[in-house]
Amino acid sequence: MIVLGMDTSCDDTSAGCINGNNILSNIVLSQVLHSEYGGVIPELAARDHIKQISNIVDRAIDKVGLKNISGIGVTFGPGLTGSLLVGLSFAKSLSYALSIPFYGVNHIEAHIFSLFIEHEIEYPFIALVVSGGHTELIIVEEKGKYKCIGTTLDDAAGEAFDKVSKMLGLSYPGGQIIEEIAKSGIPTAINFPRADVPGYNFSFSGLKTAVLYYLKSQKSEVRSQKSNIAASFQEAVVDSLIAKLIKAATDFKIKRVGIVGGVASNIRLRQKLKNTGIDAYFPNPKLCTDNGVMVAMCANFYLDKCIFSPYNLRVSSSASL
Ligand code: KG4
Ligand code: ZN
Repeated sequence: MIVLGMDTSCDDTSAGCINGNNILSNIVLSQVLHSEYGGVIPELAARDHIKQISNIVDRAIDKVGLKNISGIGVTFGPGLTGSLLVGLSFAKSLSYALSIPFYGVNHIEAHIFSLFIEHEIEYPFIALVVSGGHTELIIVEEKGKYKCIGTTLDDAAGEAFDKVSKMLGLSYPGGQIIEEIAKSGIPTAINFPRADVPGYNFSFSGLKTAVLYYLKSQKSEVRSQKSNIAASFQEAVVDSLIAKLIKAATDFKIKRVGIVGGVASNIRLRQKLKNTGIDAYFPNPKLCTDNGVMVAMCANFYLDKCIFSPYNLRVSSSASL
């Protein structure tokens, strides 16, 4: 069964087709218009999705052929309301016009499904969803059965990368840029705090403020300082994420973890997890940031069970698993 998936939850207009675990297409257009603001402007994001969605879906189905698609998956939440509306309305129209079912996918669940393209992971496993909007620890009992055990109390990990990038006068989104300049910095140069919050929760706002105060205390920002700040900040985020992963893996006696979402493409995170005794699974970096393929993978699971969404499905900016 060929499934078309679409995601317009934030600032990427994306669509992709799968047949089982085979990716037939994966088209992602990241909106650059937000870079001058240092963060996503929801109204501009929604307007840009409207401009791009038809073209992106056309490209995703170009070689597949519209008539060969048996089902549609689309993100209905969580995300930005206006942006979600564009994808959901488009998917409903296409589903109606082609007389094929559609399934409204939870964006967090879609990120978890990005693991299954390349990996078969024994259940239960622990999923760490780390993106611009989410930092969540979830026990995946099986596909479709989740227990959220921890979340961020303030900023998401990706959001912290984006905010620190802005503080350093760098561009948006900041994750990849910070990672790049951190390569020439020393991770132990500055001892930024690792928040100690209860249970399996996370907190990054103290770290962000520590970077801000450190910057204020510096007379001039030379290039090498920026890389030391980036490397030390990145180290603090990575250490905080790994500490909670190890705690959850030990307490629940589950040694398998899947790390998904934009921050999962971070190489330092991947490297440091190698020495922890945990079996860590990552999606291909192309499938870490938002994409239609992961949505199609998730929709495929439900459509296969003849679970369809009704045409009156609404977007939900705060949908939970
Ligand atoms: O999953 P995603 O595309 O969007 C959300 O669902 O939020 O994640 C985007 C986030 C951004 O905050 C971006 O800065 C971060 O992922 N990111 C990274 C890296 N690549 C993207 N953070 C750290 N290291 C990276 N290599
Ligand atoms: Zn995402």
